[in-house]
Amino acid sequence: LSAAERAAVRALWTKLGSNVGVYATEALERTFLAFPTTKTYFPHFDLTPGSAQVKAHGKKVADALTRAVAHLDDLPTALWALSDLHVRQLRVDPVNFKLLGHCLLVTLARHYPGDFSPAMHASLEKFLSHVISALASSYG
Ligand code: HEM
Repeated sequence: LSAAERAAVRALWTKLGSNVGVYATEALERTFLAFPTTKTYFPHFDLTPGSAQVKAHGKKVADALTRAVAHLDDLPTALWALSDLHVRQLRVDPVNFKLLGHCLLVTLARHYPGDFSPAMHASLEKFLSHVISALASSYG
């Protein structure tokens, strides 16, 4: 990411503040609805709207994303353990990362329309694609 793209992502994250968990939860709910095959990874979860389990999971995903924003220079290292978990233990097909990434983008655009210039959109796409490659980096 360029200096301007990093600045855009960091500025939006500062604005999200403690609501990152709320939006990550909405993104998960959207993913399960829009791409139902993603639900197959969560047979042990209550996936009904407003589920406490999904909310708690949204908080974990949010914390991981916030950690990523703090480590834009070295995402593969920052996310290595999570990559290992998703790839080796959970066996998540990497196409699913893109689906959640897409839903995160839609969620943020919906809640922050005024901030969502084409440049902000491009910065977030790049950020999410780096997070996704870092998560997929322990394949192989
Ligand atoms: C668990 C982050 C994408 C399936 C987790 C955890 C985090 C996380 C932080 C908790 C790890 C722990 O408890 O130590 C992320 C991030 C993603 C992502 C940042 C992408 C941006 C996905 C996708 C799927 C998935 C796309 C499947 C469709 C799971 C499952 C668990 C998990 C099944 C275990 C849930 C449980 O039993 O508690 N993820 N994840 N993740 N993730 Fe992901």
